[in-house]
Amino acid sequence: MQVIQVADYEEMSTKTAAFFYCSTKGRPNLHLGLATGSTPIGFYEKLVERLQANLVDVSHLRTFNLDEYIGLHHDHPQSYHTFMRNLFYQPLGLSKHQTFIPDGTAEDIEQECERYEQQIQELGGLHIQLLGVGKNGHIGFNEPGTPFDSRTHCVELKSSTREANARFFESMEDVPTHAITMGIGTILEAEKIVLLASGEEKAEAIYQLVHGTYSEKWPITALQKHKDVTVYLDEDAGKLL
Ligand code: F6R
Repeated sequence: MQVIQVADYEEMSTKTAAFFYCSTKGRPNLHLGLATGSTPIGFYEKLVERLQANLVDVSHLRTFNLDEYIGLHHDHPQSYHTFMRNLFYQPLGLSKHQTFIPDGTAEDIEQECERYEQQIQELGGLHIQLLGVGKNGHIGFNEPGTPFDSRTHCVELKSSTREANARFFESMEDVPTHAITMGIGTILEAEKIVLLASGEEKAEAIYQLVHGTYSEKWPITALQKHKDVTVYLDEDAGKLL
């Protein structure tokens, strides 16, 4: 595991965007696993800026998102469909045939989980997976206690995760209770994993990743056994290392 500690959010976003820019440019058929949340926003802005400025052909790129809330319409302002459309798909002109994300409005959620997992496998899997991390160490929406060999599945969000995400909604009641997420086993099959962490509230999870015991109590520790993980941290997220 390579841990790259930088000064602040800005530098974390710039360095990560530079890495993804070079990867996309060098491998036109790249399959990116992507994350949402507040951490990668600066990264998406910078990556889009560089790809556009250098007229990189992204017509063969494919993207696969980690997760989506259950019950939010694709056009809901806080759905991950909307997040991705605004920050990445639309600015780059990516089509529906290139961008994949679980459907949290599906009638049969179990079937949707299976369909999404199969789609990832059938299209050839993930080359680079971008991850953020929750305060409790969750990756995707894989909360503490999730088996490390899990595949795409439906989860009930922990109240701590709903509270953390309430800042994006009008009230706590509006925060969805369930989500679809790629499993930890799905994530671990990516050829390369890049994890971003910014801010003091992520410091404990990062400490567990680097020095903690490999345990389902901290989902992030599943990454300890992956052969190619790079972590970009700002100073606050790295303060317990
Ligand atoms: C989102 C995701 C989550 C977030 C995590 C951190 O697609 O997979 O694991 O990365 O909840 O969220 P932020 O970045 O908002 O602190």
